[in-house]
Amino acid sequence: MTRIAVYPGSFDPVTKGHADLIRRCLAFADRVIVAVAVNVAKQPLFTLEERGAMLRATVVLPNVAVRCFDGLLVDFAKQVGAAVLVRGLRAVSDFEYEFQMALMNRTLAPTLETVFLVPAFDLTYLSSSLVREVARFGGDVSALVHPDVQRALKAKYGR
Ligand code: PNS
Repeated sequence: MTRIAVYPGSFDPVTKGHADLIRRCLAFADRVIVAVAVNVAKQPLFTLEERGAMLRATVVLPNVAVRCFDGLLVDFAKQVGAAVLVRGLRAVSDFEYEFQMALMNRTLAPTLETVFLVPAFDLTYLSSSLVREVARFGGDVSALVHPDVQRALKAKYGR
């Protein structure tokens, strides 16, 4: 049996923290599908397609695929035959939102399990929103994202 994990998120843009988590998924999943999704609470900087392209440039690993979708996460997971949803937990502040989402997804799809992974210690401070903010004001994000992402941020912000 092939164990498929879906790692969903906005990835606006993908950071080295996300890439670390994707590698960790391969410890327990045969295939990982990184699912670029719509978060209705956010106004993204990049389109779904741009975010997908940046993920494909950042994460080049066997058994990892990147897909974009704009429906319900549980429907997408069912469509690709996933048994597990993976989310990252960086700090206590992430917990309430993640707990709510996991329970809502369980209500909608009782056999789909949510698994939380902790990123590498030196990446726990990293978030897409902070990367956007640093890039917006011309700061150096080269240690935090893939060079393609750095270029895309420069193009968006013009600096
Ligand atoms: O990186 P994010 O923004 O925290 O990811 C949140 C995301 C995209 C995983 C969540 O908003 C989501 O699952 N969106 C798809 C629509 C959906 O299924 N919403 C109900 C979630 S309980």
